[in-house]
Amino acid sequence: MSDFKVKDLGLADKGELLIEWASRHMPVLNQISKRFKSEKPLRGLRIGACLHVTKETAVLVRTLVDGGAEVALCGSNPLSTQDEIAAALANRGVNVYAWRGETTEEYYWCINRVIDYKPVITLDDGADLVSTIHSSRKDALKNVIGGTEETTTGVMRLKAMARKGVLKYPIIAVNDAYTKYLFDNRYGTGQSTIDGILRATNILLAGKRFVVCGYGWCGRGLALRAKGMGANVIVTEVNPLRALEAVMDGFQVMPIMEAASIGDIFVTTTGNINVIRGEHILKMKDGAILANSGHFNVEISLPDLKKISVSKKTIRANLEEYKLKDGRRIYLLAEGRLVNLASAEGHPSEVMDMSFSNQALCVEYLAKNPGMEPKVYNVPKEIDEMVARLKLKSMNIKIDEMTEEQKKYLSSWESGTI
Ligand code: NAI
Repeated sequence: MSDFKVKDLGLADKGELLIEWASRHMPVLNQISKRFKSEKPLRGLRIGACLHVTKETAVLVRTLVDGGAEVALCGSNPLSTQDEIAAALANRGVNVYAWRGETTEEYYWCINRVIDYKPVITLDDGADLVSTIHSSRKDALKNVIGGTEETTTGVMRLKAMARKGVLKYPIIAVNDAYTKYLFDNRYGTGQSTIDGILRATNILLAGKRFVVCGYGWCGRGLALRAKGMGANVIVTEVNPLRALEAVMDGFQVMPIMEAASIGDIFVTTTGNINVIRGEHILKMKDGAILANSGHFNVEISLPDLKKISVSKKTIRANLEEYKLKDGRRIYLLAEGRLVNLASAEGHPSEVMDMSFSNQALCVEYLAKNPGMEPKVYNVPKEIDEMVARLKLKSMNIKIDEMTEEQKKYLSSWESGTI
C-alpha cells in the first residue's frame, strides 16, 4: 500500500504529460529501463530518495521501479518540487512526500517519512537525507547497504563525514562522474539558471553587467551562457587557478566588493556561505538583482539583506523587492534558493539523462556489490564511459577507434623524436 503526502492528487494527469515529454529526451535512461525491466537487478530493494521532484526525477524513479525496486521519495529543496510530478508519482504508487513551499519543519518531516520506509539504498542531492540518518535517525543505519550523491555540495559534506570517521555506509559520488559534472553542472546549470532569471524578471540580458560568483563547473557554464546573451560578464573567485582561467576565457575578474558597485545582476554558484553580504549589498546600484544557483540558500546573506532593508514586497512569483534605508531597491529571486529549480524547471532532460543514468547504474552497482567499505567512491570508469557511449549513440554520433599500432604506441616509451 502506498502512502504519500502531496499538494493535489488532481494534478496527476498534467504530471504524466510532463513525464512523457521528459522521457522522450532521455534515451539513455530509457535504454537502461528496458534492460532493467527484463533483468530486474533491483528486485525487492527498498530505495529512499531525496531529490528535486522534477519530471526527470520521475523518469529515474520509473527506471528504478522497472528494475524491481520500491521507491520512497522526498524533495531535496523546499521550493523545487513540481506538484504535478509529485501527484503523478503518488498516483503510480510511489511513496512521495513533497510539495512546493515546504517550511523547514515540513521539509525534514518529509525526509523522516522516507527514512521510516527503511531504505536499503539512499539517493541524495545535497546530503540532507544521509546527514539525518547519521544524526537523529541512526535506527535506519542497520538497513542501509549504500547510497549515491548527486551534487557537489553533498559530496563535500560526505567527504567531511568520511574524514571524521562518522560515515557509516558507502556512497558513490555521482556528481564526480565526467558524464555528470561536465554537462549537468556546466551546460545544465548554465542554461537553466538563465531560464530561471528570465522567468522571474523577463529582463534583457544584453548589455547588462552580469556578475558570476564562483568559476567552478556551474559558474563556467553560467558565464558562457550569459556572455552568449550579450551580457558583460564579471567573475569573482577565491581560487587563483580558477580566476586565471576566467581571465583567459575572456571575462573580467575582480573582488566582489569591487563588482558590487557596478553589477546589474549577481548570481552565486560557489557552494559556500555568505558570499554576498550586507557590506556588498550596501554598495549596489538601485535595481540590482540577486540570485543563487548553488545548492543551499546560504550564499547570499538573507539575514544581512533583511537587516539593512526597511521594507519588502513581492512583485510577482520568485521576485521580491527589498527597499534599503536610502530608498535603493534590491531584487531577490526565489528567496535565494536555487533559481534554476525554484523559478524554472531545473536542468533540461537531455543532461539529466546522463546524470540519472549514472544514478541508476550506480544503484545497480551497489546492489551487486554489498559489503563495500563506508567511504565516498568515484563512479566506476566503466559506468561513466558506458553513459557517454550510449549518449553519443542516441545522438547518432560515431567516433574513431584506436588502431593496434596506436594502442601500442601510447603504452610504450621507446619511440621518441624521429
Ligand atoms: P565547484 O567546486 O566546481 O565550484 C565552486 C567554485 O566557487 C570554486 O571555483 C571555488 O573556488 C569558488 N568559490 C568558493 N568560495 C567562493 C567565494 N567566497 N567567492 C567566489 N568564489 C568562491 O562547484 P560546482 O560544481 O560549480 O557547484 C557549485 C554549487 O552549485 C554547489 O553548491 C553545487 O552543489 C551546486 N549545484 C547546483 C546545481 C543547480 O541545479 N543549481 C547543479 C549542480 C551543482
